[in-house]
Amino acid sequence: MTELRELYQEMILDHGKRPRNFRAQDDAESAAGHNPLCGDRVTVYVRTEDGVIRDVSFQGSGCAISTASASLMTEALSGKTVEEARALFRRFHELVAAEGDEQGLGKLEVFKGVRDFPMRVKCATLAWHTLCAALDHEKDLVTTE
Ligand code: FES
Repeated sequence: MTELRELYQEMILDHGKRPRNFRAQDDAESAAGHNPLCGDRVTVYVRTEDGVIRDVSFQGSGCAISTASASLMTEALSGKTVEEARALFRRFHELVAAEGDEQGLGKLEVFKGVRDFPMRVKCATLAWHTLCAALDHEKDLVTTE
């Protein structure tokens, strides 16, 4: 395994064990997501002001990949506009689905290895799909199946 891969794996394990922004928000939009294949569940909370994301957080239970993905997502989105957030998700999805590169993705690049495990693409994108539902004020449970 290359040093870079080890570093990526370490960061995923760290965020999986000690997720950042792991909290509910009373005054935020929220949506719930579920991956029925794995059983992972996540609730994403997002507070926007004039089209800018002021606070984003999550709670849930799941594997290292879905938890780390939610954690790194919250870090990546703070201060971004809603449109920038949607664009970042498109790029992130392209990265993990092997349809794009890591240019401009910052720390989210650590999920590049997911492209070798197509079954895990939904694990890595669960929080992002759920974020989009929260931004779109969708009340139905988001499911990856
Ligand atoms: Fe965690 Fe798939 S194993 S969402």
